[in-house]
Amino acid sequence: ITHCISHAMSDSVYRPCSCFCLNTGDSCCNPLSMGSIKKMIEEAVPGIDVLSLMIGKTVIQDTENGFFMDVNEQVSMVCSQLAQDPKLKDGYNAMGFSQGGQFLRAVAQRCPSPPMKTLISVGGQQQGVYGLPRCPGESSHICDWIRKELNSGAYTDIVQKHLVQAQYWHDPLNDDLYKKHSLFLADINQERVVNETYKKNLQLLDKFVMVKFLQDSVVDPVDTEWFGFLKTGQAKETETLQESVLYKEDRLGLAAMEADGKLDFLATEGDHLQFTDEWFNAKLVPYLH
Ligand SMILES: *[C@@H]1O[C@H](CO)[C@@H](O)[C@H](O)[C@H]1NC(C)=O
Repeated sequence: ITHCISHAMSDSVYRPCSCFCLNTGDSCCNPLSMGSIKKMIEEAVPGIDVLSLMIGKTVIQDTENGFFMDVNEQVSMVCSQLAQDPKLKDGYNAMGFSQGGQFLRAVAQRCPSPPMKTLISVGGQQQGVYGLPRCPGESSHICDWIRKELNSGAYTDIVQKHLVQAQYWHDPLNDDLYKKHSLFLADINQERVVNETYKKNLQLLDKFVMVKFLQDSVVDPVDTEWFGFLKTGQAKETETLQESVLYKEDRLGLAAMEADGKLDFLATEGDHLQFTDEWFNAKLVPYLH
């Protein structure tokens, strides 16, 4: 995890933005780096304090290392890091790119202190993924290997604990396995029980913003970026968040948040995490003020 604070603000409230990222490393799938995002935010919001967090490594590095990580453990490490940072004590805004979107939501649900104000999920997979449609980078044999592991053993304990992608693998054809054995995603999405603490904490947010990339060729199904997913029992038809049981039973407080005007759904042209500075400044930066 890299953790760097750019510069301190002399007065007023600190409003740092923590960028949490996985699978968006320089060597991976896109030209974005946390460094360039940080710079963009700093230029757009003078005096802002940006904390950038890197969780894990890229798919490729993870795979090459042969060993991976337990997301639940990483989330709790980040929580303690945030709790110890005096600059964050009055609250902070959080922006997560790709997998960072769902990991930061776990932080909001599990760690209410310091308080997260606005959560922005940029291309996050809030309902997980089912498929690896386009393999990032050149190492397609590595993706083939990952896909095979996921299809055969995504819900075994060992794969769950060590393969990041498995921790948000959502197989609609094996819904019972998913619900029972997914250690990360099924937990934060209240698939086994309704944890009232999660529901209460998420509703403490002022805003939960979800950005979807309309030509996303990396995330499957792309509906997951707006918290939708494939309907259970098949792998073709999708449903929106509003059509889901999660929403209808309001197991996570999302229906209540939408009624309070706290959910914003943004769509943008482009492939996964492909956006212009202009778009970023016009659509996302206003949430950071
Ligand atoms: C609910 O979430 C809180 C916060 O992470 C946790 O401490 C607690 O053990 C969870 N309860 C259940 C029933 O999972």
